[in-house]
Amino acid sequence: MIKKIGPEPYKIKMVEPLKQTTKSERKKLIAKAGYNIFNLCSEDIYIDLLTDSGTSAMSQFQWAALMQGDETYAGSRSFFRLKETVTSITGYPYVLPTHQGRGAENILTKMLIKPGTFIPGNMHFDSTRAHLQLKGGFPLDLVVDQGLKPEADHPFKGNINLGKLENVLKEHGRKKVPFVLMTVTCNSNGGQPVSMENIRSAAGLCRRYQVPLFFDAARFAENCYFIKEREPGYKERELIDITREMFSYGDGCMMSSKKDGLVNIGGFMAFKDDSLYQQACQLSIVYEGFPTYGGMAGRDLEALSVGLQEVLDVSYLRFRIEQVAYLADRLQEEGVPIVKPPGGHAVYIDGKKFAPHIPQSQFPAQVLVVELYIEAGIRAIELGTSAFTEKDPDTGELIYPELDLVRLAIPRRVYTNTHIDVVAESILDIYRNRDQLRGLKIVYEAQVLRHFTCRFEFME
Ligand SMILES: Cc1ncc(COP(=O)(O)O)c(C=O)c1O
Repeated sequence: MIKKIGPEPYKIKMVEPLKQTTKSERKKLIAKAGYNIFNLCSEDIYIDLLTDSGTSAMSQFQWAALMQGDETYAGSRSFFRLKETVTSITGYPYVLPTHQGRGAENILTKMLIKPGTFIPGNMHFDSTRAHLQLKGGFPLDLVVDQGLKPEADHPFKGNINLGKLENVLKEHGRKKVPFVLMTVTCNSNGGQPVSMENIRSAAGLCRRYQVPLFFDAARFAENCYFIKEREPGYKERELIDITREMFSYGDGCMMSSKKDGLVNIGGFMAFKDDSLYQQACQLSIVYEGFPTYGGMAGRDLEALSVGLQEVLDVSYLRFRIEQVAYLADRLQEEGVPIVKPPGGHAVYIDGKKFAPHIPQSQFPAQVLVVELYIEAGIRAIELGTSAFTEKDPDTGELIYPELDLVRLAIPRRVYTNTHIDVVAESILDIYRNRDQLRGLKIVYEAQVLRHFTCRFEFME
């Protein structure tokens, strides 16, 4: 049964017009784009679900805060305001802004990783993984088995497998494991949350083996909301208390503030320990900027400080998580195969099950992405065959990924419930006529990260 969705906990003060195109215009536009949604102009898109990163709408308080930005190079007042907010949320006294999440990743990995070391985590995000590998480290994704099964309906599919974590810590010890990274929520398997119990136990293991624990906190507020909703003992607790408890188990965090910071750009790192912070400051000066701005404008530090407080408003989070769940329910009601349960920021559709008559070599998930644009001007993204297929280095044979998914990422505070209904109805229309979908073939591809630039054509 579809859970009734609550009303928006805000009203609209400023509007951004959306262009409505016709189906025949969209057919031409997507053909010109080589059937690759990365080649579309944003003004030809009606509802953009490409990503939830950097796409949030700011509040009147954030826009007002921008005007108070102190753009001084060193000692900016805006920095101290942000520091106070971050410390009040995380409990970590040492705060360093960065231009975005990957700036923080670069600094942390440069500080702590020696070639040949292992970095366990629940599941590392792509850019984190790349930084770990660039420094010679081996990322280890130790998410629980249920986390890798789209149909496994488990409340905390982002949990780390504690047995596997202990084995890695026991086998390699603190000399070979510079830190453990817990990503909350776990983006790489669909924004799935990690339970407090799992975090506490992982922290216990880290303490026993004297290995620091860090959080990738891009979606910390959504994770804490899931803990409040789903974990026994947390229902009556204030979100800020849950958040503080969660961070108390770690030694620090890095954050892309383009998600739960409710801003369009930015990031930060925060530490319990002064010596790690001092090392990070040295690298910040080289790579990001002086430690009181770290690549961000003073005004953006102000907006972030306000966003980090607003994101912990329970009525905002309830609406956000329910909006995502509502979309998932509407699709599931008519049998559209999705990853269960939906995560915090996106709904994922299983392309192979959506159009089983299209072989994986003909990109079923990408076919749905293209049809969704043609049908309604909605932009989703394929995370599957075009993005993750690898080539066997010896035989040249293509190795397809297990999952061929379409991600519908929901920007924060941007789309109304009516927009979400348009998305659901458009997908359902395609699903009802799915037998008519035709496969795609690639006619141009680059050597690396081909999905960003490749071009497709429909099969004959
Ligand atoms: C979990 C997670 N970590 C890190 C990043 C990288 O952040 P940024 O895009 O700000 O560099 C992202 C971005 O999507 C993310 O989802």
